[in-house]
Amino acid sequence: MSSFLTYTAIVLVASPGLAAGISGGIGRLPAMGWNSWNEYACDISEGVFLETGELMVSLGLRDLGYEYVNIDDCWSDKEKRRDEETKRIVVDSEKFPRGISHVADEIHKLGLKVGIYSDAGTLTCGGYEGSLGYEDIDAATWAEWGIDYLKYDNCNVPPEWADEYPYDPALTSNPVPPRGYDYARSNTSVRFSRMRDALQRQSQPIQYSLCVWGHAHVERWGHETGHSWRMWGDILPQWAGRAGFSWGIMPIVNQAARHWEDSSFWGHNDWDMLEVGNGDLTFEENRSHFALWAALKSPLIIGTPLKGIDEKVLGILSNKELIDFNQDTHYSDSARPFGLEGPVPPTADNTAHPPSHWVGISVKGIHVFLLNTGAEEAVLAVEFDRTPGLNKQRVYLVHDMWTGEDLGVFLDGFALSVKAHDTAALRFTTPQGNHPDANWAPREPRRSEGGD
Ligand SMILES: *[C@@H]1O[C@H](CO)[C@@H](O)[C@H](O)[C@H]1NC(C)=O
Ligand SMILES: *[C@@H]1O[C@H](CO)[C@@H](O)[C@H](O)[C@H]1NC(C)=O
Repeated sequence: MSSFLTYTAIVLVASPGLAAGISGGIGRLPAMGWNSWNEYACDISEGVFLETGELMVSLGLRDLGYEYVNIDDCWSDKEKRRDEETKRIVVDSEKFPRGISHVADEIHKLGLKVGIYSDAGTLTCGGYEGSLGYEDIDAATWAEWGIDYLKYDNCNVPPEWADEYPYDPALTSNPVPPRGYDYARSNTSVRFSRMRDALQRQSQPIQYSLCVWGHAHVERWGHETGHSWRMWGDILPQWAGRAGFSWGIMPIVNQAARHWEDSSFWGHNDWDMLEVGNGDLTFEENRSHFALWAALKSPLIIGTPLKGIDEKVLGILSNKELIDFNQDTHYSDSARPFGLEGPVPPTADNTAHPPSHWVGISVKGIHVFLLNTGAEEAVLAVEFDRTPGLNKQRVYLVHDMWTGEDLGVFLDGFALSVKAHDTAALRFTTPQGNHPDANWAPREPRRSEGGD
């Protein structure tokens, strides 16, 4: 097959300077790494992170771009909280007998980076010390330890920091602010901006991941505040449904369908850490989860233990073509749903299921993701004249991103059978393997605007 790269180079124009204030030269693409929370919760120790770092190298994950080894909640001393004199957070000396800086040093020696966790409230979600009011001290402490990434949560906000017009996307109704109200001025935005400012005062860049659950319309001010922002409640390792604050894969994807325009270079919607390999997902559900998170340009943060990882799970997480889509350096757009009869229904009612047809662009071609939301195997079709990016020509070479095989050259359309809850990941090029439409799709991210 001839070169995919014979088209005119696309200038890197996706809003230069959009997040120049916060980028620090990092976070242009979605973060990739590993985080302890989904499977270890509070049962962490230095050994977990050192072993994970080594496995990220030996399993080839580092070389695929997985970069961060992230410590989540419960790393500090729940009783001592802060040092009385320095006011620094006290590290749990049983879990981390040689300190967090030792973990950071060892992880750095592996050519990886290290992340930590805190909270824009008085306590973390697990009831450990939070950073509200101590932003400068904590940012300086982490910088001194060599921390490269902060996940900043949103629990235990004191009443004096409540928003005048709170907005929670998971509620069916929220107070209506006056016309033109700017959520960037909300107390939620101020709490997260304080840590941004503290991080920026450090001499090394620290990637800033806002774990703000879509509150206060973070998608409208996230670009000025962090490198990524959580858009919804916590993920559960299950296909559908919800349990309180946590949701299965399908409702999260449904919500993502309503917000595909909000990600761009330097700033990404975060649909939460991966559950691939956790809980009771089927093989097909694991595949869909990974393919869709890649397609949505969400950070790809592995949440499953790497020790003894199932070969097929590792294979999913190592799919180079999906990773390449997620990490494309020319196109920042999330895949978008298409072919819908009407608007994507609200997710909060928990009955909606997400769109089946998604399309996106990379340097290699136009990509279509076909999600079978049904409980039976089904034939899903791509009609070229109805597919954005494909509607100008009639003949395409179709390539399967899961197997790496070309499936053939097709006229007017392509259809294939997709197993229940599986997602086909396809790439379309000209029959010669060239990019079909390198000018399709670039657009500015949606910024402040009224309504939902
Ligand atoms: C911030 O919190 C204070 C105290 O609760 C409140 O009076 C104020 O209206 C809040 N500001 C915004 C912009 O929500
Ligand atoms: C997908 O992950 C689940 C856990 O969610 C695991 O039990 C299952 O074996 C995985 N599927 C595979 C590799 O087929």
